[in-house]
Amino acid sequence: MNGPHAGALQLYAMPGNEARADALAARLGPRVRRAGLWLHRFPDGESLVRVQPPGMEAALVCTLRDPDALTVPLLMAAATLRELGAARLGLVAPYLAYMRQDRAFEPGQAVSARIYAALLSGHFDWLLTVDPHLHRIDSLDRVYSLRSRVVHAAAPIARWVASEIEQPLLIGPDAESRQWVAEVAERVHAPMLVLDKQRRGDLEVSSRLPDLRAWSGRTPVLLDDIASSGRTLAVVLESLRGRAMAPAACVVTHGLFALDALELLRASGAARVACTDSVEPPPGVEVIRLEAELAQALGDITASVKENPP
Ligand code: R5P
Repeated sequence: MNGPHAGALQLYAMPGNEARADALAARLGPRVRRAGLWLHRFPDGESLVRVQPPGMEAALVCTLRDPDALTVPLLMAAATLRELGAARLGLVAPYLAYMRQDRAFEPGQAVSARIYAALLSGHFDWLLTVDPHLHRIDSLDRVYSLRSRVVHAAAPIARWVASEIEQPLLIGPDAESRQWVAEVAERVHAPMLVLDKQRRGDLEVSSRLPDLRAWSGRTPVLLDDIASSGRTLAVVLESLRGRAMAPAACVVTHGLFALDALELLRASGAARVACTDSVEPPPGVEVIRLEAELAQALGDITASVKENPP
């Protein structure tokens, strides 16, 4: 490509990611140029992707909620961009799917995190995401063989908690949440505690709250990286009932809100529910925007990939 946009990153949005891609392009000015991508679904469920021809640098924007439906067209788009000449291809996936299945919990189970990482790594040179669920796998580099960059949501979440919640008590519902809860608690100078959770099935979760009298009058802020079925948070909300505390808030990085999750959180006593825009939040959920952080990281990773190609 010649002309004023030569060398710019061409940014393609998978369906549903157009606003996110537009916002990133608007923030990065001439370094990024939006390009067209069209997805046709045939009546039998197959899909056909068409893209505007790329330059040397290209990236797809696709947050990976509902990954099974998205991954085939995403990989079709990636392969097409390669065939049409993209020399370096990135993926901006604010929510990165499949990271929770990070080992075989039962004999014979797939380690989805590793398998999905291999699939994406085979098609992309770099990946930009927001706080992936790193637990038993402690770094994306252990499973992804591409260059990755992680945006951390702790600072924007801490700013939201500091400005919206008086006297917070941060509660992490399980051991995995400690890393996020500790960082936010430190930033807002609030007390924190982390619970033990037992999960017996997709919708069967239990946990026990300790004595909270030392924190009476505070506002419980339940903080986790992901709300999926909402059961992890709902069970904590239920056990907060009748305690001498202000009405609770739930804050998550990735609001997947599957099934009746949101209604359940409200019915279980959540006075406020907030999440980042890594996944488009449903109506009624307060939004913590990560646009600025994502744009900064996108500018950094594209510059680094150009200077030092993978
Ligand atoms: C798991 O460790 C995650 O951090 C979340 O706690 C979990 O994915 C939440 O799932 P659900 O909302 O279905 O209970």
